[in-house]
Amino acid sequence: MRFKGRDVISIKDFTKDEVNHILRVAGEMEPLAKKGSDMLRGRILATLFFEPSTRTRLSFETAMYKLGGTTIGFAEPEISSVRKGESLADTVRVVENYADIIVLRHPLEGAARFAAEYAEVPVINAGSGAEEHPTQALLDLYTIVKEMGRIDGLKIALAGDLRFGRTVHSLAYALSLYDVKLYMVSPPTLRMRSEVLEDIKGRVEAVETEDMESIIPEIDVLYVTRIQKERFPDPAEYEKVRGSYRVDLNTLRNAKDNLIILHPLPRTDEVPPEVDMTPYAKYFKQVWSGVVVRMALLALLLGAVE
Ligand code: NCD
Repeated sequence: MRFKGRDVISIKDFTKDEVNHILRVAGEMEPLAKKGSDMLRGRILATLFFEPSTRTRLSFETAMYKLGGTTIGFAEPEISSVRKGESLADTVRVVENYADIIVLRHPLEGAARFAAEYAEVPVINAGSGAEEHPTQALLDLYTIVKEMGRIDGLKIALAGDLRFGRTVHSLAYALSLYDVKLYMVSPPTLRMRSEVLEDIKGRVEAVETEDMESIIPEIDVLYVTRIQKERFPDPAEYEKVRGSYRVDLNTLRNAKDNLIILHPLPRTDEVPPEVDMTPYAKYFKQVWSGVVVRMALLALLLGAVE
């Protein structure tokens, strides 16, 4: 297993052993996240964000600072030379002169893979259009292990916008490495992409349904996502599904006692604040997982840990 110098573009680029290793190293980062470390002193992370972000960008920056490194970058491409028409390929070839590792979020599918082909330094995909968000999937898995003690044997529902939501694509691939049963819960027009279903078929059982209530008593993990309004090619199509699902206290009345609810955040109206008070709600704990998992990735890719 070798991580030094690698890119993180798709979760599919990693074996189960490698994913488990990243989760293990993330566990070892917990104390360092509390007390700090100088493992990456002198190293520079560049965050290039061509799309809005709160958690992903700030947690990568936090992770880098906690390991003693520093960060540069932009979250508003409008104020960089991108505004003047600089290409992604040129931007990346410039930035790698400044930084040891690049984290990229971009609205186009394939953008991260494309950037990685130009960059000599590792590129981490922090979201490529509606395609994938591999580091989110890793922190989702980490949270499941932390809360449930395991992944194997669990029944897990991925709910919401399974068509345009990139986090659920990466998470479905990641979960298909384990012995789980998946429920894909969505309105008909937001069903899981067929290429994802095709890929995971044969490795895990995946049941598609529109009926959240019927599966609630079965499941151990409920992963809810928002409707990705900005990715709808047609605003009228968004209007048709807007507000079409919601996980509230009533939906949860037949849930198992130890059900956990995860959400990559940001949420809109799909999980109302009344759920925050229940023991099911783990989405704010998930945010902390983002810090330790990204510390692990930075340390591994920069060769500070094996
Ligand atoms: C997600 C994203 O950007 O795909 N956010 C995140 O990174 N936690 C989810 C979303 O925007 O709905």
